[in-house]
Amino acid sequence: MRRSLLLGTGSALPDQRVTNADLENRLDTSDAWIVERTGIRARRIAPPEMKTSDLALLAAQRALEAAGLEATQIDLIVMATATPDQTFPATATVVQARLGLTSGVAFDVHAVCSGFVYALTVADSLLRTGPYRRALVIGAELFSRLIDWEDRSTAVLFGDGAGAVVLESREDPPGGRGILASRLHSDGRYGPLLHVDGGPGSTGTVGKLRMSGREVFRHAVVNLASVMEETLAAAGVEPGEVDWVVPHQANRRIIEATARKLHLPPGRVVITVDEHANTSAASVPLAFDAAVRDGRIQPGHLCLLEAMGGGFTWGAVLLRV
Ligand code: ACO
Repeated sequence: MRRSLLLGTGSALPDQRVTNADLENRLDTSDAWIVERTGIRARRIAPPEMKTSDLALLAAQRALEAAGLEATQIDLIVMATATPDQTFPATATVVQARLGLTSGVAFDVHAVCSGFVYALTVADSLLRTGPYRRALVIGAELFSRLIDWEDRSTAVLFGDGAGAVVLESREDPPGGRGILASRLHSDGRYGPLLHVDGGPGSTGTVGKLRMSGREVFRHAVVNLASVMEETLAAAGVEPGEVDWVVPHQANRRIIEATARKLHLPPGRVVITVDEHANTSAASVPLAFDAAVRDGRIQPGHLCLLEAMGGGFTWGAVLLRV
Protein backbone atom coordinates (compact mmCIF):
# COMPACT_ATOMS: atom_id res chain seq x y z
CA MET A 1 0.00 0.00 0.00
CA ARG A 2 1.23 3.45 -0.93
CA ARG A 3 1.47 5.89 1.99
CA SER A 4 2.68 9.44 2.65
CA LEU A 5 5.65 9.32 5.00
CA LEU A 6 6.70 12.28 7.16
CA LEU A 7 10.35 13.21 6.46
CA GLY A 8 10.76 16.49 8.34
CA THR A 9 9.11 19.46 10.04
CA GLY A 10 9.96 23.15 10.34
CA SER A 11 8.46 26.39 11.62
CA ALA A 12 9.02 30.13 11.79
CA LEU A 13 7.80 32.95 14.02
CA PRO A 14 8.23 36.73 13.85
CA ASP A 15 10.70 38.12 16.43
CA GLN A 16 8.31 40.48 18.20
CA ARG A 17 6.71 38.79 21.24
CA VAL A 18 3.65 40.65 22.50
CA THR A 19 2.60 39.67 26.03
CA ASN A 20 -0.80 40.04 27.67
CA ALA A 21 0.73 42.85 29.75
CA ASP A 22 1.60 44.67 26.50
CA LEU A 23 -2.05 44.37 25.41
CA GLU A 24 -3.23 45.81 28.76
CA ASN A 25 -1.66 49.08 27.56
CA ARG A 26 -3.82 49.33 24.44
CA LEU A 27 -7.05 47.48 25.35
CA ASP A 28 -9.46 47.23 28.29
CA THR A 29 -8.26 43.74 29.23
CA SER A 30 -6.06 41.95 31.75
CA ASP A 31 -3.49 39.18 31.81
CA ALA A 32 -5.65 37.34 34.37
CA TRP A 33 -8.76 37.39 32.09
CA ILE A 34 -6.84 36.22 29.01
CA VAL A 35 -4.99 33.42 30.83
CA GLU A 36 -8.10 32.17 32.63
CA ARG A 37 -10.35 32.16 29.53
CA THR A 38 -7.82 31.04 26.90
CA GLY A 39 -4.47 29.93 28.36
CA ILE A 40 -2.74 32.50 26.12
CA ARG A 41 0.21 34.41 27.63
CA ALA A 42 1.91 35.81 24.52
CA ARG A 43 1.76 35.91 20.73
CA ARG A 44 4.19 36.86 17.96
CA ILE A 45 3.29 39.79 15.73
CA ALA A 46 4.93 40.39 12.35
CA PRO A 47 6.43 43.77 11.41
CA PRO A 48 4.53 45.76 8.74
CA GLU A 49 6.96 44.88 5.93
CA MET A 50 6.67 41.10 6.52
CA LYS A 51 4.47 38.97 4.26
CA THR A 52 2.93 35.55 4.84
CA SER A 53 5.29 34.12 2.19
CA ASP A 54 8.34 35.30 4.20
CA LEU A 55 7.39 33.11 7.17
CA ALA A 56 6.17 30.29 4.92
CA LEU A 57 9.50 30.22 3.08
CA LEU A 58 11.50 30.04 6.33
CA ALA A 59 9.33 27.23 7.71
CA ALA A 60 9.62 25.35 4.39
CA GLN A 61 13.41 25.71 4.32
CA ARG A 62 13.67 24.40 7.89
CA ALA A 63 11.41 21.43 7.08
CA LEU A 64 13.54 20.63 4.01
CA GLU A 65 16.70 20.82 6.12
CA ALA A 66 15.18 18.48 8.73
CA ALA A 67 14.22 16.07 5.91
CA GLY A 68 17.74 16.25 4.44
CA LEU A 69 16.33 17.27 1.05
CA GLU A 70 17.01 19.98 -1.53
CA ALA A 71 14.07 22.11 -2.68
CA THR A 72 14.50 20.67 -6.19
CA GLN A 73 13.39 17.27 -4.86
CA ILE A 74 9.89 18.66 -4.14
CA ASP A 75 7.23 18.35 -6.85
CA LEU A 76 4.13 19.40 -4.90
CA ILE A 77 3.51 22.41 -2.62
CA VAL A 78 0.17 22.72 -0.86
CA MET A 79 -0.15 25.79 1.31
CA ALA A 80 -2.92 26.56 3.78
CA THR A 81 -3.56 30.23 4.43
CA ALA A 82 -6.44 32.66 4.95
CA THR A 83 -4.00 35.59 4.77
CA PRO A 84 -2.30 35.23 1.36
CA ASP A 85 0.19 37.87 0.23
CA GLN A 86 -2.23 38.98 -2.49
CA THR A 87 -5.63 37.88 -3.82
CA PHE A 88 -3.64 36.07 -6.51
CA PRO A 89 -1.28 34.49 -7.43
CA ALA A 90 -1.50 31.77 -4.80
CA THR A 91 1.10 32.29 -2.06
CA ALA A 92 2.25 28.69 -2.62
CA THR A 93 3.53 29.77 -6.05
CA VAL A 94 5.42 32.69 -4.43
CA VAL A 95 7.12 30.18 -2.10
CA GLN A 96 7.75 27.85 -5.06
CA ALA A 97 9.56 30.63 -6.95
CA ARG A 98 11.53 31.73 -3.88
CA LEU A 99 12.67 28.12 -3.36
CA GLY A 100 14.04 28.25 -6.92
CA LEU A 101 11.55 25.71 -8.29
CA THR A 102 10.35 25.98 -11.88
CA SER A 103 8.46 22.71 -12.14
CA GLY A 104 5.91 20.76 -10.12
CA VAL A 105 2.61 22.00 -8.76
CA ALA A 106 1.90 24.68 -6.13
CA PHE A 107 -1.47 25.93 -4.91
CA ASP A 108 -3.26 27.31 -1.84
CA VAL A 109 -6.00 25.69 0.22
CA HIS A 110 -8.34 27.93 2.20
CA ALA A 111 -10.07 26.44 5.23
CA VAL A 112 -8.97 29.03 7.83
CA CYS A 113 -7.93 27.37 11.13
CA SER A 114 -8.53 23.89 9.65
CA GLY A 115 -6.35 24.78 6.66
CA PHE A 116 -3.38 22.62 7.60
CA VAL A 117 -5.35 19.39 8.12
CA TYR A 118 -7.14 20.12 4.83
CA ALA A 119 -3.80 20.74 3.04
CA LEU A 120 -2.27 17.60 4.57
CA THR A 121 -5.24 15.53 3.39
CA VAL A 122 -5.10 17.00 -0.14
CA ALA A 123 -1.33 16.44 -0.39
CA ASP A 124 -1.67 12.89 0.97
CA SER A 125 -4.37 12.08 -1.61
CA LEU A 126 -2.22 13.41 -4.48
CA LEU A 127 0.89 11.58 -3.24
CA ARG A 128 -0.98 8.28 -3.01
CA THR A 129 -2.91 8.55 -6.26
CA GLY A 130 -1.04 11.01 -8.50
CA PRO A 131 2.36 11.20 -10.14
CA TYR A 132 3.90 13.20 -7.26
CA ARG A 133 6.79 11.97 -5.15
CA ARG A 134 7.51 14.59 -2.45
CA ALA A 135 5.35 17.34 -1.03
CA LEU A 136 5.84 20.42 1.09
CA VAL A 137 2.72 21.13 3.12
CA ILE A 138 2.72 24.58 4.71
CA GLY A 139 0.40 26.43 7.07
CA ALA A 140 1.23 30.14 7.30
CA GLU A 141 -0.71 33.15 8.52
CA LEU A 142 -0.37 36.79 9.46
CA PHE A 143 -3.65 36.88 11.40
CA SER A 144 -2.61 40.14 13.07
CA ARG A 145 -3.56 41.80 9.75
CA LEU A 146 -7.22 40.75 10.23
CA ILE A 147 -7.55 41.91 13.84
CA ASP A 148 -9.78 44.80 14.86
CA TRP A 149 -7.61 46.28 17.61
CA GLU A 150 -10.69 48.02 19.08
CA ASP A 151 -12.39 44.65 19.74
CA ARG A 152 -10.94 43.18 22.94
CA SER A 153 -12.97 39.98 22.58
CA THR A 154 -10.97 38.91 19.50
CA ALA A 155 -7.78 41.03 19.50
CA VAL A 156 -6.22 39.09 22.38
CA LEU A 157 -6.69 35.68 20.75
CA PHE A 158 -4.54 35.62 17.61
CA GLY A 159 -0.91 35.68 16.44
CA ASP A 160 1.33 35.18 13.41
CA GLY A 161 3.45 32.18 12.40
CA ALA A 162 4.17 29.38 9.96
CA GLY A 163 4.84 25.65 10.03
CA ALA A 164 5.67 23.09 7.36
CA VAL A 165 6.15 19.37 6.83
CA VAL A 166 7.77 17.33 4.06
CA LEU A 167 6.01 14.17 2.92
CA GLU A 168 7.24 11.42 0.60
CA SER A 169 5.16 8.84 -1.24
CA ARG A 170 6.36 5.29 -0.36
CA GLU A 171 5.18 1.79 -1.10
CA ASP A 172 4.54 -0.13 2.16
CA PRO A 173 6.63 2.04 4.50
CA PRO A 174 8.21 -0.05 7.30
CA GLY A 175 6.76 -0.01 10.82
CA GLY A 176 3.30 0.99 9.58
CA ARG A 177 4.52 4.59 9.27
CA GLY A 178 2.86 7.37 7.30
CA ILE A 179 -0.57 8.99 7.15
CA LEU A 180 -3.08 6.31 8.19
CA ALA A 181 -6.41 8.14 7.98
CA SER A 182 -7.97 11.55 7.70
CA ARG A 183 -11.48 12.98 7.79
CA LEU A 184 -12.68 16.48 6.80
CA HIS A 185 -16.00 18.28 7.28
CA SER A 186 -17.56 21.65 6.62
CA ASP A 187 -20.94 23.25 7.30
CA GLY A 188 -21.37 26.66 5.71
CA ARG A 189 -24.48 27.52 7.69
CA TYR A 190 -22.18 28.60 10.50
CA GLY A 191 -20.12 31.07 8.45
CA PRO A 192 -21.54 34.15 10.21
CA LEU A 193 -20.30 32.95 13.62
CA LEU A 194 -16.65 33.39 12.60
CA HIS A 195 -15.83 35.48 9.56
CA VAL A 196 -14.05 38.50 8.11
CA ASP A 197 -16.59 41.22 7.24
CA GLY A 198 -15.12 42.09 3.84
CA GLY A 199 -11.82 41.62 2.14
CA PRO A 200 -10.25 41.50 -1.29
CA GLY A 201 -12.16 39.60 -3.91
CA SER A 202 -15.74 40.03 -5.06
CA THR A 203 -16.71 42.49 -2.30
CA GLY A 204 -13.84 44.88 -3.06
CA THR A 205 -13.66 45.91 0.60
CA VAL A 206 -11.24 45.52 3.50
CA GLY A 207 -12.56 43.48 6.41
CA LYS A 208 -11.77 42.54 9.99
CA LEU A 209 -12.29 39.34 11.96
CA ARG A 210 -15.66 38.95 13.75
CA MET A 211 -16.54 36.08 16.06
CA SER A 212 -19.32 34.85 18.36
CA GLY A 213 -16.85 33.29 20.78
CA ARG A 214 -19.26 31.34 22.98
CA GLU A 215 -21.02 29.64 20.09
CA VAL A 216 -17.74 28.82 18.34
CA PHE A 217 -16.50 27.28 21.59
CA ARG A 218 -19.59 25.06 21.93
CA HIS A 219 -19.38 23.77 18.34
CA ALA A 220 -15.60 23.30 18.53
CA VAL A 221 -15.65 20.76 21.38
CA VAL A 222 -18.47 18.70 19.83
CA ASN A 223 -17.10 18.73 16.26
CA LEU A 224 -13.48 18.08 17.22
CA ALA A 225 -14.26 15.15 19.52
CA SER A 226 -16.51 13.64 16.84
CA VAL A 227 -14.00 13.95 13.96
CA MET A 228 -11.19 12.60 16.13
CA GLU A 229 -13.28 9.53 16.96
CA GLU A 230 -14.25 9.13 13.31
CA THR A 231 -10.60 9.29 12.16
CA LEU A 232 -9.40 6.82 14.80
CA ALA A 233 -12.23 4.42 13.88
CA ALA A 234 -11.29 4.68 10.17
CA ALA A 235 -7.81 3.40 11.07
CA GLY A 236 -9.04 0.87 13.65
CA VAL A 237 -7.13 2.65 16.43
CA GLU A 238 -8.32 3.12 20.05
CA PRO A 239 -7.86 6.57 21.67
CA GLY A 240 -5.55 4.98 24.27
CA GLU A 241 -3.09 3.94 21.53
CA VAL A 242 -2.41 7.56 20.48
CA ASP A 243 0.98 8.82 21.64
CA TRP A 244 0.37 12.53 20.93
CA VAL A 245 -2.61 14.68 20.08
CA VAL A 246 -1.51 17.80 18.21
CA PRO A 247 -4.57 20.06 18.35
CA HIS A 248 -5.34 23.39 16.73
CA GLN A 249 -4.16 25.93 19.27
CA ALA A 250 -7.16 28.24 19.70
CA ASN A 251 -7.92 27.99 23.37
CA ARG A 252 -6.58 25.82 26.19
CA ARG A 253 -10.10 25.15 27.46
CA ILE A 254 -11.25 23.81 24.06
CA ILE A 255 -8.16 21.59 23.87
CA GLU A 256 -8.64 20.19 27.39
CA ALA A 257 -12.41 19.71 27.06
CA THR A 258 -11.91 17.80 23.80
CA ALA A 259 -9.19 15.60 25.31
CA ARG A 260 -11.45 14.84 28.28
CA LYS A 261 -14.32 13.85 25.96
CA LEU A 262 -12.03 11.24 24.36
CA HIS A 263 -10.56 10.17 27.74
CA LEU A 264 -7.06 11.17 26.60
CA PRO A 265 -4.54 11.92 29.36
CA PRO A 266 -3.62 15.66 29.29
CA GLY A 267 0.07 14.68 29.32
CA ARG A 268 -0.28 13.41 25.75
CA VAL A 269 -1.60 16.66 24.29
CA VAL A 270 0.84 19.16 22.74
CA ILE A 271 0.01 22.69 23.88
CA THR A 272 1.70 25.82 22.49
CA VAL A 273 -1.28 28.21 22.63
CA ASP A 274 0.29 29.85 25.70
CA GLU A 275 3.18 31.20 23.59
CA HIS A 276 1.75 31.33 20.04
CA ALA A 277 -1.95 32.17 20.62
CA ASN A 278 -4.19 31.17 17.68
CA THR A 279 -2.18 31.26 14.44
CA SER A 280 -5.00 29.73 12.37
CA ALA A 281 -3.63 27.37 9.67
CA ALA A 282 -0.11 27.65 11.14
CA SER A 283 -1.04 26.45 14.61
CA VAL A 284 -0.98 22.65 14.09
CA PRO A 285 2.35 22.51 12.18
CA LEU A 286 3.90 25.01 14.63
CA ALA A 287 2.90 22.82 17.59
CA PHE A 288 3.94 19.65 15.74
CA ASP A 289 7.38 21.06 14.94
CA ALA A 290 7.86 22.25 18.54
CA ALA A 291 7.15 18.74 19.89
CA VAL A 292 9.39 17.07 17.28
CA ARG A 293 12.27 19.43 18.03
CA ASP A 294 12.06 19.13 21.83
CA GLY A 295 12.03 15.32 21.51
CA ARG A 296 8.49 14.60 22.71
CA ILE A 297 7.39 13.22 19.33
CA GLN A 298 9.70 10.37 18.32
CA PRO A 299 9.88 8.16 15.21
CA GLY A 300 7.19 5.49 15.46
CA HIS A 301 4.82 7.62 17.55
CA LEU A 302 1.16 7.69 16.61
CA CYS A 303 -0.04 11.31 16.31
CA LEU A 304 -3.55 12.66 15.91
CA LEU A 305 -3.76 16.16 14.43
CA GLU A 306 -7.08 18.06 14.65
CA ALA A 307 -8.46 21.51 13.86
CA MET A 308 -11.64 23.51 13.51
CA GLY A 309 -12.15 26.94 12.02
CA GLY A 310 -14.28 29.41 10.12
CA GLY A 311 -16.80 27.98 7.67
CA PHE A 312 -17.24 26.00 9.87
CA THR A 313 -14.56 23.61 8.71
CA TRP A 314 -13.04 20.83 10.80
CA GLY A 315 -10.96 17.71 10.40
CA ALA A 316 -8.35 15.32 11.77
CA VAL A 317 -5.36 13.40 10.45
CA LEU A 318 -3.81 10.29 12.05
CA LEU A 319 -0.19 9.53 11.22
CA ARG A 320 2.62 7.35 12.47
CA VAL A 321 5.79 9.47 12.47
N1 ACO B 1 -10.62 41.13 28.40
C1 ACO B 1 -11.48 41.33 29.40
N2 ACO B 1 -12.79 41.07 29.32
C2 ACO B 1 -13.25 40.60 28.14
C3 ACO B 1 -12.40 40.38 27.04
C4 ACO B 1 -11.04 40.67 27.21
N3 ACO B 1 -10.13 40.47 26.22
N4 ACO B 1 -13.14 39.91 26.03
C5 ACO B 1 -14.40 39.83 26.45
N5 ACO B 1 -14.47 40.25 27.73
C6 ACO B 1 -15.65 40.34 28.58
C7 ACO B 1 -16.93 40.45 27.82
O1 ACO B 1 -17.18 41.78 27.44
C8 ACO B 1 -17.94 39.92 28.81
O2 ACO B 1 -18.22 40.95 29.72
P1 ACO B 1 -19.72 41.14 30.32
O3 ACO B 1 -20.01 39.86 31.05
O4 ACO B 1 -19.58 42.34 31.20
O5 ACO B 1 -20.59 41.32 29.13
C9 ACO B 1 -17.17 38.83 29.56
O6 ACO B 1 -15.77 39.12 29.32
C10 ACO B 1 -17.50 37.44 29.09
O7 ACO B 1 -17.45 37.42 27.66
P2 ACO B 1 -17.68 36.09 26.85
O8 ACO B 1 -17.45 36.37 25.40
O9 ACO B 1 -18.98 35.49 27.24
O10 ACO B 1 -16.49 35.21 27.44
P3 ACO B 1 -16.19 33.69 27.22
O11 ACO B 1 -16.05 33.01 28.52
O12 ACO B 1 -17.08 33.04 26.21
O13 ACO B 1 -14.71 33.72 26.60
C11 ACO B 1 -13.65 33.51 24.46
C12 ACO B 1 -14.51 34.37 25.37
C13 ACO B 1 -12.29 33.34 25.11
C14 ACO B 1 -13.51 34.19 23.10
C15 ACO B 1 -14.30 32.12 24.30
O14 ACO B 1 -15.65 32.24 23.94
C16 ACO B 1 -13.60 31.29 23.28
O15 ACO B 1 -12.47 30.93 23.44
N6 ACO B 1 -14.29 30.89 22.20
C17 ACO B 1 -13.70 30.10 21.17
C18 ACO B 1 -13.33 31.00 20.09
C19 ACO B 1 -12.05 30.64 19.39
O16 ACO B 1 -11.09 30.19 19.96
N7 ACO B 1 -12.06 30.91 18.12
C20 ACO B 1 -10.92 30.75 17.32
C21 ACO B 1 -11.24 30.31 15.96
S1 ACO B 1 -12.21 28.86 15.93
C22 ACO B 1 -11.26 27.78 16.52
O17 ACO B 1 -10.12 27.92 16.31
C23 ACO B 1 -11.79 26.66 17.24
